[in-house]
Amino acid sequence: MVSRVIPVDEFDLVIFGATGDLANRKILPGLYRRVLAGQIPQGSQIIGAARSDMDAEAFRAQVRGAIEEHVNPAKIVPESVAEFLAMLDYVVIDAKGEGGWDDLKAKVRPDVINAFYFSVAPSLFGDLAERLHKRGIAGPDARIVVEKPFGRDLTSAKALNKALADHFDETQIYRIDHYLGKETVQNLMAVRFANILFEPLWNAQYVDHVQITVAETVGVGGRGSYYDKSGAMRDMVQNHMMQLLCLIAMEPPYHFDPDAVRDEKLKVIRALQSVAPNDMVRGQYLAKGDEPGYLADSEDPESKTESYIALKCHIANWRWTGTPFYLRTGKRLRARTSEIAITFKEPPHSIFDEAEGDWRENVLVIRLQPNEGMNLKMMIKEPGPGGMRLVQVPLDMSFAEALGEEADITDAYERLIMDVIRGNQTLFMRGDEVEAAWAWTDPIIEGWEARGDRPQPYDSGTSGPDDALMLMHRDGRRWREIRE
Ligand code: BG6
Repeated sequence: MVSRVIPVDEFDLVIFGATGDLANRKILPGLYRRVLAGQIPQGSQIIGAARSDMDAEAFRAQVRGAIEEHVNPAKIVPESVAEFLAMLDYVVIDAKGEGGWDDLKAKVRPDVINAFYFSVAPSLFGDLAERLHKRGIAGPDARIVVEKPFGRDLTSAKALNKALADHFDETQIYRIDHYLGKETVQNLMAVRFANILFEPLWNAQYVDHVQITVAETVGVGGRGSYYDKSGAMRDMVQNHMMQLLCLIAMEPPYHFDPDAVRDEKLKVIRALQSVAPNDMVRGQYLAKGDEPGYLADSEDPESKTESYIALKCHIANWRWTGTPFYLRTGKRLRARTSEIAITFKEPPHSIFDEAEGDWRENVLVIRLQPNEGMNLKMMIKEPGPGGMRLVQVPLDMSFAEALGEEADITDAYERLIMDVIRGNQTLFMRGDEVEAAWAWTDPIIEGWEARGDRPQPYDSGTSGPDDALMLMHRDGRRWREIRE
């Protein structure tokens, strides 16, 4: 297969918060990998901007360290590292004051693509936007990249949207949800809209239910103070899982175009019904061996924040009324695995006697990570003589095996940053989408806060609280096993 990567033009990318964790772990190593892939045009500049008092040389040394720590050693090629480091520059900046802005203006070239990545606390978004605009550093073609958390409720999300909209047009704003940068998440759209096979069955008439699972083995240690104010609902459901749900449930957009795709996602969010208290289960992990439990990780021994949540959701529209979407996500679970499973209904009539086999539903599983791929569980005849006996087998496709080298599962961040430079907003959340997601999330959170609900404890290394099993059992269904 010939690579058909869309080239990008020369650019200046400014990273605010360039000394922070995200920049060192994801953004800068990701950009290095794009240099290695030959995708960053010569002459482009990557300008770190942060409070730390250092010069460009010291910043380059920091970035070299980040590459050594976060890039696969097999991909560390000295010439490419040198090429990347030569693109770097650094400005000491005071986000709330005046210091450094003239220096920055002198470095950013107005005649190439300009992008500004706000890898900083959301409370600084407004200050940065105002200074970039008023000082004429970011013009009408500049791109502004922001990260989650994009608010912690509808009111704060609206305030952030306004802080950006006061200075920039929506077409300039790129809100990252890194799940949308994952290869398999984009593959959801390819599978749905580039094949005729699934669409006729993709509705409540044929789909019994959908399960979306994002399970993690890590706890929240090290980021307890952020997480404790957030919890699984704000940290994962309002954004990443909502995006997955939208891509599964949305109508075909008329074109793979930013607003066409986002319009359809927005309709799904707006059609989501509120979740009744008995349709959700919240949990908190317990200590295991030397590993602390949630209450120790969060540093609040009384915390009621959930590290696990399972929800049964309904989408009230013509396509999906009658098909529940079960969502679950949690920390310190049995395995790190993310998948979407679409379980189809039984055929209307069976021509085979029950004695002749063990009929099971067709299930389409899309594995997001690890081992990205798809698996369609089908009934076939059990081999051998002795009559017609049925057995379920998987039609299994691992993208790595099917595509070999081409499977190159590029990190979500580097893919998204390249889309920013290309000016393609398809994989970024629009302001109204984020607000609609909070409008759905807020009353659910307010409900459990008003009731004073405590999350149920669960053992680390399991599949979460027992009541989450009941959420499906009482509907005569069961969760898929959490395993790698
Ligand atoms: C982040 C959350 O957005 O996504 C983390 O804040 C979570 O809590 C992470 O661990 C999961 O991302 P991934 O790509 O590892 O599935």
